[in-house]
Amino acid sequence: MTNISIKGVGTYVPDRILTNDDLSKMVDTSDEWIVTRSGIRERHIARPDESTSDLCVKAAERAIKDANIDKNEIDLIIVGTSSPDMLTPSTAVIVQHKLGLRDIPAFDFGAACSGFQYGLDIARSMMVNPSYRTVLLICGDKLSSILDWEDRSTCVLFGDGAGAMILRKAEDSQSGIIDVIISSDGEYAPILNVPAGGSMEPASAATVQKRRHFLKMEGREVFKLAIQKMSDVIALILARNNLSIDQIDHVVPHQANVRIIDAIAEKLEIPRQKMRITVDKFGNTSASSILLAIDENRRNGTIKNGDVILTPGFGAGLTWGAAIIRLL
Ligand code: COA
Repeated sequence: MTNISIKGVGTYVPDRILTNDDLSKMVDTSDEWIVTRSGIRERHIARPDESTSDLCVKAAERAIKDANIDKNEIDLIIVGTSSPDMLTPSTAVIVQHKLGLRDIPAFDFGAACSGFQYGLDIARSMMVNPSYRTVLLICGDKLSSILDWEDRSTCVLFGDGAGAMILRKAEDSQSGIIDVIISSDGEYAPILNVPAGGSMEPASAATVQKRRHFLKMEGREVFKLAIQKMSDVIALILARNNLSIDQIDHVVPHQANVRIIDAIAEKLEIPRQKMRITVDKFGNTSASSILLAIDENRRNGTIKNGDVILTPGFGAGLTWGAAIIRLL
């Protein structure tokens, strides 16, 4: 495998904060319920005129600055999203244009909340090709655009945001991507999805009326599977790399629910002080949640360059995965 360094990280969340108290004026819920069931206190919500590509562009610009590269050095743009600007073309080409880039490949992939792990594995596989030396990987979602704001069981859990990484073939022998595992099981597609708007249920007055364009979730089932799949993949990636949890500096899991994170820590005996948690501030922002947590902890000095970070995740599909990375 080609050695790859993580040259830069950038994230963006919209300015507008929606608190649990704000939500309790919209649906029958309370700050107490949301905090005890999920650990979420607030989330950021995009303006109506801000689309997923706008969030992605802001995160990308910050990652490019952080990497200290010229944007024209980028050879490939990959965007993981579940809330694309449009069904076609890809959000990636819209991001490309907004960044002022052309004549390089740009495409989207769909792995829902496991987009970070999938994106890393796609990038590192493509970077074996000599054409791709510098890759812009972006995970971004305006989930507020696919949430049912009348459904208290889902709308309180999610937020909007984007994260980006600049990956570059490493000149030295150390790799920023130590290992990645991704997997999926489509048997679970019915427990977390947006049923209408695709070819199976094209948009019609009836689909709109039945609110079929919004995210539907069987929360309890997803909760159980999240703990099982993330625990298994953590054990697998540690064993495969002959690492123990003591050799990991930080565990940055997908930020969906603090109770899921606590359950994994307990099950695998991971010290709670190694778990990085930002779900309280951003809610579940899908594929960007790990990048938001890494960036937040890097800026407050908790995560330092050279630290080894384990990032397990899961999402609709069901998809799941884990990566072990090192920011260089
Ligand atoms: N405010 C108040 N009450 C609510 C509520 C809300 N926002 N949402 C649901 N409830 C109610 C339910 O109607 C239910 O009431 P009932 O017992 O009268 O039927 C009760 O609270 C308990 O619901 P339940 O679903 O058992 O709660 P829970 O403890 O399983 O927590 C989730 C619900 C959604 C927080 C939890 O299942 C979860 O986090 N699942 C995983 C979701 C996830 O991570 N999705 C993203 C995947 S990437």
